[in-house]
Amino acid sequence: MASTSTEQRPLLIRNGEIITADSRFHGDILVENETITRIGNHLETPPGTEVIDASGKLVFPGFIDPHVHVYLPFMATFAKDTHETASIAALIGGTTTFIEMCCPSRNDDTLEGYELWKRKAQGNSACDYTFHMAVSKFDEKTEGQLREIVRDGITSFKIFLSYKNFFGVDDAEMFQTLQLARELGVIVTAHCENAELVDRLQKDLLARGKTGPEWHEPSRPEAVEAEGTGRFATFLETTGATGYVVHLSCEPALQAALAAKARGVKIFVECVVPHLLLDKTYAERKGIEGMKHVMSPPLRDKRNQAVLWNALAAGAVDTVGTDHCPFDTEQKMLGAEAFTRIPNGIPGIEERVNLLYTYGVKAGRIDIHRFVDAASTRAAKLFGLFPKKGTIAVGSDADLVIYDPNYKGVLSAKTHHVNNDYCGFEGMAIAGRPSLVTVRGKVQVRDGEFVGERGRGRMLRRVPMATNGIQEQNG
Ligand code: URP
Ligand code: ZN
Ligand code: ZN
Repeated sequence: MASTSTEQRPLLIRNGEIITADSRFHGDILVENETITRIGNHLETPPGTEVIDASGKLVFPGFIDPHVHVYLPFMATFAKDTHETASIAALIGGTTTFIEMCCPSRNDDTLEGYELWKRKAQGNSACDYTFHMAVSKFDEKTEGQLREIVRDGITSFKIFLSYKNFFGVDDAEMFQTLQLARELGVIVTAHCENAELVDRLQKDLLARGKTGPEWHEPSRPEAVEAEGTGRFATFLETTGATGYVVHLSCEPALQAALAAKARGVKIFVECVVPHLLLDKTYAERKGIEGMKHVMSPPLRDKRNQAVLWNALAAGAVDTVGTDHCPFDTEQKMLGAEAFTRIPNGIPGIEERVNLLYTYGVKAGRIDIHRFVDAASTRAAKLFGLFPKKGTIAVGSDADLVIYDPNYKGVLSAKTHHVNNDYCGFEGMAIAGRPSLVTVRGKVQVRDGEFVGERGRGRMLRRVPMATNGIQEQNG
C-alpha cells in the first residue's frame, strides 16, 4: 500500500484494554502523523497531544468489511448509497476500511468500469477503501486490462457464477480468469451459485404462478450453491489459483469448501451477517416485508446458522462481511409481480461489528480474538492490507475503535445512517458499540456521531500475494 502522511495533532489513547487477534492487555497507544508510534504503559504526552481516556473501554483495530456494494447498477436500478453515506455509516459502526465490489456488467468495458468506480469513490469516502475487480467476461481485451488494473494496486478479482448474462461468467471464462490470477498472484473471490439451475428453477416457479418473495429461496436451493462452491474449488485445484468464496450461506456449500481445503486447495470462506442472524422466514413474510430480505444466496433454513457460527468459531469460516447492498422499499417493489425482479441485497455496513460482537462474543459463540480476526485481521491478511491494517502495532495505520461494551441499543432505520428507508435488522438489540473511531489518527466518530472529515478516505493500493496465498503489503 502506498501511503502519504499529513501533519496532524498527536493522539494518546490512555488505559484502554487493547485487543487484537492474538493479544489482550491494558495500555496506552500514541499516534503521530497517522501511524501508531508507541504502545506501552504510562506513555509520555508530547506537546499538543489530544488525550483520550479509554478506561473501561476495549480498543480494537479498525474493522474491515471485505464485501460491500456502494455504487452498483443492478437489476434495473442502482444501490442507494453514495460513498459518503456508506462510509459514514461504516465508520459509525466501527468499520474503517471496506472493500467494494467494482462490478461492470458483461456489456461494459472492464477498464472503463474500473475508472468509473474509482471516480465515484475518489474524494467522497470518509474511510479507507479498495476494490475487488469483477471479471464479468473474458474477451480479447480482458487480459491486458486486468494486468493494468493489478498494476494500479488491485490484487483481488471477483467472479459471479450466477447472474447469467449480466455479471456471470461461464466455465471457460472462469478458467481463464483463474489462470491469469495464478500468474499474477491475485486472489479470486467468487459468488458461487449455478446460474443455469437458478435460471431453470426461476422460470419453472414463475410458470406455476409462484411469484412472491417466498419463492426466491426455492429458486436457488442449497444444492445449487454447493454445486457452485464445489465447481469453483475444482477450478482452483486445477489452475493452482487462490480463491475466496463470498457470502457462503449453508452447510452443503461449507462442506464443499472444507472438503477442498482438506485436499490442499487454497480456498478461503466468507460468511455475511444476514446469513448468521436471519433465516428464510424473513423473506417468507408477505409482500414488501419479505422483499426487504431478498438477497442471493438467499436467507436459509435456520439449521444452517449454528453450522456457520461453529465454523466461524473454529476459523473454518475465515471472515465475516456484510454484502452491504441497499435498495429501498420503492426499488424492492420492482419485484411486486415476480420475485425474480426484486433487487437482491440487504444493507448491513453499519450494523456488522455490533451484531457480531453482541450475538457472537457476548452470546459466547465466538471468542473475542476470533471476532477481531474474522472482522478485521484475516481480511487484512488475505487482501494485502496487513500489517498496515488489521492490527494494533507500532507502524500500523492508526485505525482504532474504542469500543463501549456496556452500551445497549436497538437497531432501526429511524436512527441508522445508511441511505435507505429500512434496516435489515430492525428491532434487534445490540450490546456494545464504538464510542470513538479513528482513521489514520483522525477522530471520525464520537458517541455514535460522525464528527470528522468527509473526504478523508484513501484508496489503498496493494501488491500481489506471496506464494503462501496470503498477500503482502508494500507499506
Ligand atoms: O443479493 C446480493 N447478494 N446482492 C448483491 C450482489 C451480490 O450477489 O453480491
Ligand atoms: Zn454475490
Ligand atoms: Zn455482494
